[in-house]
Amino acid sequence: MLYPKDVVDFIKNDTILSRRFNDIADDLNATEKVLNYSCDVELWMYSEGVRVSRAVRKYLFFLSSMEKIFNTIHSSFGKTSGVERGRIDDLPAQTSAREMLSIAQYLYYLNSHGIQGSVLECGSFKGFSSCCLSWACHYLNRTLIVADSFQGLPDIGNSLYKVKRGDFKGDFDLVKSNIEHYGNIQNVKFIKGWFNESLRNFKEDLCLLWMDVDLYSSAKDVLQNVFNNLTKGGVVFSHEFSAGYMSSDGVIDEKGAHDVMLALHDYFKENTIPYKAKHLMEDTGIIVPNISKNMNIILHTYSSNVLIDVLNNYSAFDVKILNSIHKRGPTQIAHFILRRSYKNTTRSAYCIDSVGGQNIRYQPRVFARKDEEFTMTGWAIDTDQKKPATCVFIKIGQQYYPAVYGRERVDLAIVYRNEFLKNSGFIAYIPTKSLDVGEYGITIVIVSADGKTYTEEDTGHSITIV
Ligand SMILES: C[S@@+](CC[C@H](N)C(=O)[O-])C[C@H]1O[C@@H](n2cnc3c(N)ncnc32)[C@H](O)[C@@H]1O
Repeated sequence: MLYPKDVVDFIKNDTILSRRFNDIADDLNATEKVLNYSCDVELWMYSEGVRVSRAVRKYLFFLSSMEKIFNTIHSSFGKTSGVERGRIDDLPAQTSAREMLSIAQYLYYLNSHGIQGSVLECGSFKGFSSCCLSWACHYLNRTLIVADSFQGLPDIGNSLYKVKRGDFKGDFDLVKSNIEHYGNIQNVKFIKGWFNESLRNFKEDLCLLWMDVDLYSSAKDVLQNVFNNLTKGGVVFSHEFSAGYMSSDGVIDEKGAHDVMLALHDYFKENTIPYKAKHLMEDTGIIVPNISKNMNIILHTYSSNVLIDVLNNYSAFDVKILNSIHKRGPTQIAHFILRRSYKNTTRSAYCIDSVGGQNIRYQPRVFARKDEEFTMTGWAIDTDQKKPATCVFIKIGQQYYPAVYGRERVDLAIVYRNEFLKNSGFIAYIPTKSLDVGEYGITIVIVSADGKTYTEEDTGHSITIV
């Protein structure tokens, strides 16, 4: 797992901790070690670590504040970007708070290793990701460079996406004012224009390149002009990244890949740059260049998932909890807290995490536009048999929508101490066409491993179609 260097140093300098966590990876961003799925370091950080180590306190403070800020920005961006309903760019935020948190977490990590350079964002639309990253960069004292045409997409060529020239247009003045209102503009610079021209003489060192550019040609333009500006240890994060187009040895599989993933594949192949890539969550992946075949990327998103889930339910700086940890012993109480935090959100054997890209803890009542598709994510397990479910349906009104079941949720395997549960996540794509305007309760139907059906009529969540 990937932990900030000062946290790893703290552990290594302590005789007892260094024995307890003797397999902790301390390489830069990839390792030859086999990383086991356990969240013992996270539990230690949350319980004892926060009390004894300033490095841990700082790290948890950063993660938990960024997560809250990013979710608040997401809510502030609202539900429409002002274009006609049903258009591909109708949603003003095209990425999620969690995707942005994975980048922020990595930046914290790069800071802890003293990796120099600015952050370059290519593709801002209305500025949601720019606002989030501007806070992370401000906190970590980095410059964020936001590059965009501010006129939307260029000519499309033969993209598989159903997009056209001018889609995802975010006016420069609007993006700037959004960053002024919801972000922190102090460390932000802008580059206006089409990437093949605007980035041609790009000179700055980069520690992280974040691409959200939709098209093969745009991704190629970015990589050709700025990839060499990445400093040693620097990485690329990219949107339009799917786990489905990855080969088992951690590189992009050229057979299925298209658009941005194909551009990444082609660029590295044409320039004979070794790399490893990994899908992180939703549509975001990380690419670590210049590492050999036997290395594995250290970043595992479940580490921050576990920490954030616990921190959301219990403040790490809560005096009562710290006292009880002190009295009852750190490890037991941490396990207890972790399980309780999952139980609280789960009822028995499922949890709905997000509706329409919004973390429902922050947004209990979610709105969707008629004729627009929205997603629901979560997890479900068969607690009786201690196995994953067979499938999951979401019922809204009289309609049943099948979810795609089997997404990676290593955090569940850890919390329930059952390796079989590590792919118990789901995502449902819900087209609202067939639903009338109004508020609907959300029902979940779980088909268990033995074929029995469990229905929870009242999940406590609702969706309002407007
Ligand atoms: C999907 S949007 C970015 C979404 C944004 N990151 C968010 O979080 O909401 C894609 C952006 O890439 C920009 N873009 C794509 N190709 C470009 C190119 N060749 N030159 C300049 N901008 C481009 C578009 O203008 C658009 O703002």
